[in-house]
Amino acid sequence: MPSAAISCLLKLILVSGTVYTVASGNQLHDRQLQVLGEVVSGPARGRPLTLHLDAALPADVQQAVLEVEAVRRAPRLTMSLSLNHSHGQLSWHEAAAASLPRVASSSSSMLHVVLWFTPQPELLQALWHHCKPRNLLLLNMGSTLGAEVLRAESLSGVEKLVLIGHLLAEAEQDPDALGVYTVLPFSPGGVQLLGPWRRESFGSWEALFPDRFPSFEGYTFHLASWMIDYPYLYRKNKTSSQGRGITIKVVDSLSVLLNFSYTLTVEPPELVYAGKVNGSWAGTLGMVYRKEKNFTVNMFYVTLERWKDFDPSAYWSFIDIDVFLSAPQPFPMSTNLLRPFTFGVWATVVTSLAVAMSSCLVLEKTGGARGLARPSATSVWLQLHRGLVGQSVPALPRAPWQRVFLAVWLPCCLVITTAYTGNLVGILSSPAYPRRLHTLRDLADSDFRYGCNDLILNKTHY
Ligand SMILES: *[C@@H]1O[C@H](CO)[C@@H](O)[C@H](O)[C@H]1NC(C)=O
Ligand SMILES: *[C@@H]1O[C@H](CO)[C@@H](O)[C@H](O)[C@H]1NC(C)=O
Ligand SMILES: *[C@@H]1O[C@H](CO)[C@@H](O)[C@H](O)[C@H]1NC(C)=O
Ligand SMILES: *[C@@H]1O[C@H](CO)[C@@H](O)[C@H](O)[C@H]1NC(C)=O
Ligand SMILES: *[C@@H]1O[C@H](CO)[C@@H](O)[C@H](O)[C@H]1NC(C)=O
Ligand SMILES: *[C@@H]1O[C@H](CO)[C@@H](O)[C@H](O)[C@H]1NC(C)=O
Repeated sequence: MPSAAISCLLKLILVSGTVYTVASGNQLHDRQLQVLGEVVSGPARGRPLTLHLDAALPADVQQAVLEVEAVRRAPRLTMSLSLNHSHGQLSWHEAAAASLPRVASSSSSMLHVVLWFTPQPELLQALWHHCKPRNLLLLNMGSTLGAEVLRAESLSGVEKLVLIGHLLAEAEQDPDALGVYTVLPFSPGGVQLLGPWRRESFGSWEALFPDRFPSFEGYTFHLASWMIDYPYLYRKNKTSSQGRGITIKVVDSLSVLLNFSYTLTVEPPELVYAGKVNGSWAGTLGMVYRKEKNFTVNMFYVTLERWKDFDPSAYWSFIDIDVFLSAPQPFPMSTNLLRPFTFGVWATVVTSLAVAMSSCLVLEKTGGARGLARPSATSVWLQLHRGLVGQSVPALPRAPWQRVFLAVWLPCCLVITTAYTGNLVGILSSPAYPRRLHTLRDLADSDFRYGCNDLILNKTHY
């Protein structure tokens, strides 16, 4: 898969490095690519662009597409060069891996453009399954119109949908005339011609992509619901099949605004909230998946698995979840004696004591060899350690180097002991606690066990 992605990229790079001119014989392609450039630099200016090229397009046309100036200047361009439904799954996956995270590809501002010769509903199904485009432009490079493909079921959820194809009716005056078509799914009348393509008449995004769902014309939707999601969606009382809750208020407001009515389901056939049973969707999502119902208004987290098979709406609610832990016990008193210094300071003190002792011993053995009794390691240790525990030196040493040594050693000891006692007083006057959890990292690193309470299925927990 990575090698395919790399070859795809290489193709892109190579192509953009070559100077290419369209075969002059094919004026229709020239005109179609010109329209593509006008769309990208006109109504879709500044939008990220994803091009999906039908694998059946000849290589010269594919290259000509990449040579379109406006396409090359698009702020963000993603290519899928191998739109092929026979092995659609794989190549789409490659395209996604080569380009951008899948969820980002459904970003609401991105324009997806499909270029093909003959409309193939299977391709649109693969496109919907893998990209869930919000804005889709179908550019028909062939000489047939094929506008009926706009009614394909897989396009019913695309918000902005337009097909630009050969305008047969005008073929006599201008053999290369192209028309702009769309479908308003809830209006009678089927495929609508918005007009022949002219740069001026489709200058803005709204003009090229009119709202496809201005009103649902009194349509009755059947909603898959389970009325156990207090306070969002619950039953009025145990015997009633009427829904109550925030969700119902939202749906009621929308139904007035968009002119639709709806029916609810008290509970799904399988009592599963939003998961799979034996490998197939069950519960509320199962009803939607099996097309028994149109959509669901229960609330779900969008997981990758759900995103693959369903088209989630925008979020309208976020839930804050707080975590409570019992406060930790203060440190035991016995550790207070060690805590004035960090481990590093303790290590430094012990090391410097050891260094001072060994250098003292070495000096005694070399410098103090004038017939005096050799001091033992213990007596040297006692002499140096006195300074650390705040004791005076009983008698001044006789050798001058010993005096110099003490003159350096004792001020060091003074600093250490003062710091230690000062910190100790601070620690003893207020109890100290272990560090509490502050971040998710802390929580993950802690030894708390993970458990989950079934809040969703059990209203009595609220
Ligand atoms: C589409 O994919 C199939 C299977 O991999 C392959 O046989 C066919 O040639 C491809 N079609 C095109 C136009 O590339
Ligand atoms: C809703 O749509 C129906 C069917 O088109 C229409 O008869 C009705 O007047 C519309 N209602 C409103 C409030 O617009
Ligand atoms: C439940 O609500 C219905 C009306 O929707 C009402 O007729 C019925 O008496 C209510 N039952 C109870 C137990 O309150
Ligand atoms: C799932 O499979 C098991 C075993 O094959 C079966 O007993 C069970 O009824 C199935 N459940 C559903 C909801 O189909
Ligand atoms: C809604 O669902 C019903 C089946 O319950 C189906 O017949 C109908 O076509 C669906 N409507 C839309 C707009 O998808
Ligand atoms: C819901 O929670 C209550 C209290 O914890 C418990 O008694 C009851 O059995 C639970 N019901 C279900 C369906 O789990």
